[in-house]
Amino acid sequence: LNLILFGPPGAGKGTQAARLQDDFRLPYVATGDILRAAVKDGTELGRAAKAYMDAGDLVPDELVIDLIVERISADDSRDGFILDGFPRNRAQADALGEAFDRLGRRITAVLLIDVPDDDLVRRITGRRVSAKTGRPYHVETDPPKHEGRCDIDGSRLIQRDDDRPDVVRKRLEVYHRETEPLISYYDDKGLLRRVDGTRSPTEVHDHIRAVLATLR
Ligand code: AP5
Ligand code: ZN
Repeated sequence: LNLILFGPPGAGKGTQAARLQDDFRLPYVATGDILRAAVKDGTELGRAAKAYMDAGDLVPDELVIDLIVERISADDSRDGFILDGFPRNRAQADALGEAFDRLGRRITAVLLIDVPDDDLVRRITGRRVSAKTGRPYHVETDPPKHEGRCDIDGSRLIQRDDDRPDVVRKRLEVYHRETEPLISYYDDKGLLRRVDGTRSPTEVHDHIRAVLATLR
């Protein structure tokens, strides 16, 4: 199963990935998580990426494409993976397609989690994430069992630096301009599957499982 989770900021990609990982035990490759870890560790990548992320812009392709292509070419991804946050523009989509051709593999599906902009802002402002793994929660719609602590790793829940309202607006703008055109790109290839992302996390998860069952 080579699955791409696609959708605007706050659509629930990370939330659904966490549930799908429990279902399928596949490597979860989240570009945003990888970049945030690099920023936290102060690596060369992190130092180069930070300003773009803080501004809500895409990090340049040169920093992202090779990183992700290498990651999904690694041995532990041979049986499949769940990709979140990549590709985000045409150049990234083309690079991913070429990498798949080279590896003799194919994308199983691109799952679009569809949510209108107004809901997204509300979701992102209420989001809290595990300080350790980035696993997302929501203060109202998806609270942790123990306040302020991740159910899985017990670490503190924090707010992401780029979840400030002005940066969220910018991320939405970038999504509509650069990333949304990939919907028709993948639809034309017959790979796109739409999921109504406005229902509860559990309902969205059930819907995704039903969609995947028709593909395998
Ligand atoms: P990234 O980390 O990928 O962020 P994003 O795409 O903006 O998406 P989010 O993580 O904000 O949302 P999500 O869909 O995962 O939602 P979540 O499940 O958390 O990217 C961050 C930055 O990194 C980018 O801006 C860019 O700078 C850089 N970057 C990343 N990839 C890149 C690339 N390929 N190229 C260049 N730059 C790149 O849910 C959100 C909230 O809603 C949570 O609180 C959750 O609990 C709640 N929620 C989830 N589902 C539901 C539901 N069904 N009902 C109610 N609430 C829900
Ligand atoms: Zn996410």
